[in-house]
Amino acid sequence: MQTRVIATADPECPRLAAKLLTAGDLVALPTETVYGLGANGLDPEAVAKIFVAKGRPNDNPLILHVADISQIQTLCHSIPESAYRLAEAFWPGPLTMVLPARDIIPKRTTGGLSTVAVRCPDNAVTREIIRLAGVPIAAPSANLSGKPSTTTAEHVLHDHNGKLPLIVDGGPCRVGVESTIIDLTEDPPRLLRPGGITPEQLTQVLGSITVDKAVTAQICGDAVVKAPGMKYRHYAPQCQVLIINGSREAAARYIRSQYTPGDRVLCFEEELPLFEGCDPLPYGSEADPYTLSAGLFAALRQLDDPSVRRVFARCPQGGGIAYAVQNRLGKAAAFQILDAEAFV
Ligand code: TXA
Ligand code: MG
Repeated sequence: MQTRVIATADPECPRLAAKLLTAGDLVALPTETVYGLGANGLDPEAVAKIFVAKGRPNDNPLILHVADISQIQTLCHSIPESAYRLAEAFWPGPLTMVLPARDIIPKRTTGGLSTVAVRCPDNAVTREIIRLAGVPIAAPSANLSGKPSTTTAEHVLHDHNGKLPLIVDGGPCRVGVESTIIDLTEDPPRLLRPGGITPEQLTQVLGSITVDKAVTAQICGDAVVKAPGMKYRHYAPQCQVLIINGSREAAARYIRSQYTPGDRVLCFEEELPLFEGCDPLPYGSEADPYTLSAGLFAALRQLDDPSVRRVFARCPQGGGIAYAVQNRLGKAAAFQILDAEAFV
């Protein structure tokens, strides 16, 4: 199959994408977080194609993307008032809500769960495509399962060339890490995955929230977790990744003492001079953590190369968007974190 890439600015784009989606085909779509691999979320056969293309485990449910808040009533029941307050505050935007699913949603989409994840993405053309298709669009991140997510149309083409008819190119993704997932079927609501909407923003609307243990630690393969996707090793280049915490100086001293050719250092722009000779790859500026979330997956994909032996990674500290970066890097490193201060 020939894969065509079409720009969001092309006037033909929304209609063509919507037509393919309603015909049961896969279409990759840009969002503000990452590119999604989209299919009609109400059509089990279309949804099955997503699992095949990604090599995704069948028990890992998909997020349904809607054009606006009114669409969730047809997909979910027992919707708490808090869902409307969250949508009012953060939609369209990088927030996914888990709610009780109506029977119209195939089990193929929910991975057999009685709940469904819904989100309204902040990309006007993608919302127009969903509106024209007239159905919710199931879309996981468009990477091959287990690999770093796709934040450009080129990344999607790299992973899926020849496997789908259309990739909609909306340029690089602004947020760069996937949406925040909040489970509203629990009281207090439970944060299943940190992302573009920060815990601080959620707390402002919801009062208290709890944080699922899969956010901050590695979960063993057979454990029961709320977001099935969180138990798999993820976002990871093929080599070992080690997070090195501590001051710039302590980290540089430690990494330089361990460095052997073939290793790479994933660092902040500000640290480049400290890692001269250690093949550093900057992914953004520590002074502006949004550049780190936006640059992380492109950098991890670059490091996903047989010539790379081991990656020493620097990770931003604190809350806000840095919290989401800690989670993604943590998962890429299987939460292998070392404090360089202990070696001073
Ligand atoms: O930003 C995003 O959310 C992107 C873009 C494309 O919208 N999508 C995305 O999808 O990240 P995916 O499939 O890569 O991640 C979805 C996560 C998985 O960890 C999955 O297990 C979890 O959401 N999930 C989906 N439905 C769920 C449900 N009913 N209950 C709990 N977790 C759910
Ligand atoms: Mg994913």
